[in-house]
Amino acid sequence: MRVLGIETSCDDTGVAIFDSELGLLAHRLYSQTALHADYGGVVPELASRDHVRKALPLLRTVMTDAGCAPADINGIAYTAGPGLAGALLVGAALGQSLAFAWGIPAVGIHHMEGHLLSPMLEPDPPPFPFLALLVSGGHTLLANVKGLGQYRIVGESIDDAAGEAFDKTAKLLGLGYPGGPAIATAALKGSAGRFRFPRPMTDRHRTHGAAPGLDFSFSGLKTAVATEVARLGSLDSQTIADVALAFEQAVVDVLAIKCEWAIEATGAERLVVAGGVSANQSLRARLNELGKRFRVRVYFPRPAFSTDNGAMIAYAGLLRLQAGVSEPASFNVHARWAIEDLTAPS
Ligand code: KG4
Ligand code: ZN
Repeated sequence: MRVLGIETSCDDTGVAIFDSELGLLAHRLYSQTALHADYGGVVPELASRDHVRKALPLLRTVMTDAGCAPADINGIAYTAGPGLAGALLVGAALGQSLAFAWGIPAVGIHHMEGHLLSPMLEPDPPPFPFLALLVSGGHTLLANVKGLGQYRIVGESIDDAAGEAFDKTAKLLGLGYPGGPAIATAALKGSAGRFRFPRPMTDRHRTHGAAPGLDFSFSGLKTAVATEVARLGSLDSQTIADVALAFEQAVVDVLAIKCEWAIEATGAERLVVAGGVSANQSLRARLNELGKRFRVRVYFPRPAFSTDNGAMIAYAGLLRLQAGVSEPASFNVHARWAIEDLTAPS
């Protein structure tokens, strides 16, 4: 079975084709980063319009790359949420239309399920069950994963997501958008120990017999950085690097501590780490070390598939379509519609 995957939930247009026998045949990504950079964050309407512009050309390129004609595609998967409504509608409309035109089933995919399954695109994929740490721009959660669609959340952020904390802190430091890669790059030149920021919700000890607190909180950490930045006044590039490193270390520590507690609490033998923040190299190093200590195998997607992409949606779609899931064609909206464009019914 060959599945075309379409991802348009935020600021990346991703298209890919995954074959059940041959694996990933082609994938392309168009990133809107430059479009949103001046605004310091994603502007939803601009995102939707750019998806409209890029989705079809990208689709054509991917079909050519994979050497596929429409008749070679057996199913379509598109991101159905969560994400920006207008942006999602672009992928959903495209996916449903192609499925209708080509007479094949379509399935709407949960964006975070796409992330969760993304390490399965790599050689030696993780078998179920496993513990999953999902860290993206919109979500931070730990889940017990028994199988496809069998996800029990054991911890999640009560405020900002980890990626959101990176983005907001980068903004405070005058670094670009998206903040994660900008902070990680700045942190490489930072000297450790000059600053130390709090590790929120990691001081709850387990001696009272209660289950360890596996929820996360990142907004206090962002505030601590803001307070320090205000105290410092002007920031030279070394100070920015030092703050970036101290911030990154705090986030990595929090995520590693929670993974450790979750491994202890669940007895998991495998840990899957995915979502944009899983591209972070110090997080990867830290969790690999944790895995060695606990004899837990740690799985990541390749860095390019940590962040949003069409391949993970195609793959999730394949698993769901193979399981017999699909959706009826269903909607028709017009964000802009001039009344003169109406014609008399014939
Ligand atoms: O999964 P993703 O591409 O989109 C969402 O589903 O939200 O995640 C994007 C998030 C952004 O907040 C971005 O700053 C963060 O992932 N990110 C990183 C790195 N690369 C992307 N955070 C830390 N280190 C990175 N290298
Ligand atoms: Zn994502």
